[in-house]
Amino acid sequence: MDAVSVTLSFLLACLCLNGISFPVVAKVYMVVLEEDAIISYKSTRPNHIIRGHEARKYKEKVIIRHDFFLESLLPTGTYTKLYSYTRLINGFALHMTSDMALKILDGAMGVRMIQEDIKLTKLTTHTPDYVGVSNHVWPYLGGAERAGEGVLVGMIDTGINPNHPSFTNNGTVRRLSHFKGRCEEGDGFPLSVCNGKIVGAQLFARAAIAAGDFNATRDYASPLDSDGHGSHTASIAAGNFRTPVLSKGYNYGNASGMAPGARLSIYKALFSFGGYMSDVVAAIDKAVEDGVDILSLSIGPSSVPPGPSSFLSILEIELLFATKAGVSVIQAVGNSGPDPNSILSFSPWITSVAASGTDRMYKNSIILGNGRVLSGIGISEPTAERQIATKADVSSPNASTNCLDTETLIPSLAQGKLIICEHVPHSMYGQTTISTIFQSIRRIGAAGVIITSEENLLDSDAGAESSMTLPVPGIVLGSVADSQELQDYYNSNTLRSTTGEVIRFGAIGSILDGRRATYTQKGPIVALYSSRGPDVNNNLMEAADVLKPSIMAPGSAIWGAWSPNSQSVPESIGEEFTMLSGTSMAAPHVTGIAALIKQKHPDWSPAAITSAMMTTADRTDHFGNPILAQTPDGLRTANPFDYGAGAINAARAINPGLIFDIEFENYVQFLCTVPGMDKGSVRRAIGLGNCPTAHMRWCSDLNTPSVTVANLVGSRRVMRRVTSVSTETETYVALVKEPAGVAVRVTPRVIRISPNASRGFSIKLEAREATNAFTFGEVVLRGNKKHSVRIPLAVFASSAL
Ligand SMILES: *[C@@H]1O[C@H](CO)[C@@H](O)[C@H](O)[C@H]1NC(C)=O
Ligand SMILES: *[C@@H]1O[C@H](CO)[C@@H](O)[C@H](O)[C@H]1NC(C)=O
Ligand SMILES: *[C@@H]1O[C@H](CO)[C@@H](O)[C@H](O)[C@H]1NC(C)=O
Ligand SMILES: *[C@@H]1O[C@H](CO)[C@@H](O)[C@H](O)[C@H]1NC(C)=O
Ligand SMILES: *[C@@H]1O[C@H](CO)[C@@H](O)[C@H](O)[C@H]1NC(C)=O
Repeated sequence: MDAVSVTLSFLLACLCLNGISFPVVAKVYMVVLEEDAIISYKSTRPNHIIRGHEARKYKEKVIIRHDFFLESLLPTGTYTKLYSYTRLINGFALHMTSDMALKILDGAMGVRMIQEDIKLTKLTTHTPDYVGVSNHVWPYLGGAERAGEGVLVGMIDTGINPNHPSFTNNGTVRRLSHFKGRCEEGDGFPLSVCNGKIVGAQLFARAAIAAGDFNATRDYASPLDSDGHGSHTASIAAGNFRTPVLSKGYNYGNASGMAPGARLSIYKALFSFGGYMSDVVAAIDKAVEDGVDILSLSIGPSSVPPGPSSFLSILEIELLFATKAGVSVIQAVGNSGPDPNSILSFSPWITSVAASGTDRMYKNSIILGNGRVLSGIGISEPTAERQIATKADVSSPNASTNCLDTETLIPSLAQGKLIICEHVPHSMYGQTTISTIFQSIRRIGAAGVIITSEENLLDSDAGAESSMTLPVPGIVLGSVADSQELQDYYNSNTLRSTTGEVIRFGAIGSILDGRRATYTQKGPIVALYSSRGPDVNNNLMEAADVLKPSIMAPGSAIWGAWSPNSQSVPESIGEEFTMLSGTSMAAPHVTGIAALIKQKHPDWSPAAITSAMMTTADRTDHFGNPILAQTPDGLRTANPFDYGAGAINAARAINPGLIFDIEFENYVQFLCTVPGMDKGSVRRAIGLGNCPTAHMRWCSDLNTPSVTVANLVGSRRVMRRVTSVSTETETYVALVKEPAGVAVRVTPRVIRISPNASRGFSIKLEAREATNAFTFGEVVLRGNKKHSVRIPLAVFASSAL
């Protein structure tokens, strides 16, 4: 599972140590050729991307050349071609059974790049809890059912459960003219399931099969989702309006995707075990060829190697070309938080999404035998009145008072009782999750679980994270006082011998129904697991001058569609819905909102859509208090390395006033400007004769709606250009909140801009001192027609002049 991308020359050096050649286990490699892919093919008309018949002819030619190239170069039997990539990159994936084939390819004319396949992971953490759905935008887009209509969302995931009510089409099918893909029939997946809501569905499993990880019984050789992850993410992005959420016979209310009217094209390239990059690259190549508008990726590598070459990985370059084709790429930022530098989605052309909780909370209570009611959280069914026992009192001697060691429980003593488990800090769970504890308790036959608390969960909102659907009745007490009261009640009703053994359990209680939601109105809190910036390092070991994450959306405890035959969440086997948490769940919220923006503004570039979402994001909650972030030591004020530009605000994002646009060439300039980057590698990766003559002095000049300077020496003038997307002329005034230790001046300070016009301005940063740490600030362009455009600043001042 090591995500280090190994270049061929490096690999050969290892294989041929001291001239001894080691036998190679069969491996998959992605190979990129010098010739153009369809997206970069230079036809007779400049800046024209070939399409239609011309593109099909070129594709055929490219595939024939791939086969010819391989046949003339490699001995038969040493390789199998898994895919030809033609749309975004010109290359192929090869399953090689001999290291000789690899050596030949490495030296071959016309080969631009070779990269060993790596495993990718789904970015879901299995700690379920709660949900929230925005509906301030739908009324402006023709109503909920039509919100997102005409927009095609491509899900690169584990497939789809086509029979799910989130994806039915109740007769309003209209042909989507720009979709050119297919619906692939297969195991458990008849053609009829492509019903107009789901317009296409395809399987990309060749690398998984070659690696021996694909199990046809478990994984299904069709687009059918036997894992659940793909159905879950698709329902968040574009699930039908008002789909009743039924789980274990209980109706939790209605769920809707962010863009209920959008259509889905499904690319199954992930499986219960994760997936392979070469399958994902093939899926993306096809999705762009099929005409998707937005790509949703709730996947990433398990780690990112340092150094600027990460930007040139085949997947990153492919996604750059996807944006050249006008396709927005939305990716989960990763679940490796809260450590700094833990982001798994890092390229400036990708919208990288962090995860928050929502303000939905499921409260629960327990009534004790003395009539006292203690409150807490825990989504579970109620119990009858039962005896209460502490974990230690129904376990073997020397067992702990918490429930991390449930194997010490004595079943005959624990059966039928409510077991009190003492609180343990999050960090102590390790491999044991709350879910596994509850599974053990259920196996033993206890009636339920009461977890005590050392903090006031209900006040601090920290409880949001730990509320979850429980497989047995249970409650996590909400306060220290209630936990103490329970302990006192237990002690005074439990009869013990002189040696301390329990003679009679006299404490009783009943857990109430915890399945009804309440809404706290409190702001989103950055989830503990959400990966944090700064962005990847360059060769000088400075962070890249790019803000990551880009933005934050709800990711914790999200209800979504599920596959009943999935085994991946034990408490949801047989269910049509489940709650999941992870940046995997946050990304499709942004995907759906991007679809709404695309519907409203079909001609906006991917960068414009991202800009609209970022400049309008919230950094304060409902009450005007700053958004907070979870850390292992409690809550603190969040900063842009936690949540990027802030919490997404769909209502404002469809009407941003100004956008920061970026073209393909600007990204290439960015790559050529990364400190320590080998320009030859950039030329090879992109297929350029030369790096463009730079207007860009620093990477920080890439026209993003944020400013990150990872090494400020003295001062730097950062250039930006805004384009009005408003219908009226507006005058903006720049308001500045300086990062600690850094002076900021915006010139001009007042910008008057008419519809469709563009205006440049500069942001001069001047170090007042060497902060030797990132400090944060912002520039807000406040318009006189109600628009407000916020640009976060993150600056690391290495020295003052
Ligand atoms: C669509 O039809 C399905 C089954 O035919 C039904 O369960 C569902 O409620 C309908 N949805 C809407 C939005 O009418
Ligand atoms: C494939 O999956 C099935 C169903 O989960 C399981 O019973 C079987 O053991 C698996 N086969 C292999 C080779 O892992
Ligand atoms: C849930 O959706 C159904 C239609 O599917 C509708 O009749 C009902 O009013 C909705 N309930 C709520 C609380 O919105
Ligand atoms: C419990 O701990 C005591 C003292 O450390 C030790 O003597 C005893 O053997 C332990 N009993 C068990 C069952 O581990
Ligand atoms: C701005 O551009 C849009 C879309 O191209 C066009 O419809 C509109 O008329 C333009 N407005 C002005 C004032 O030029």
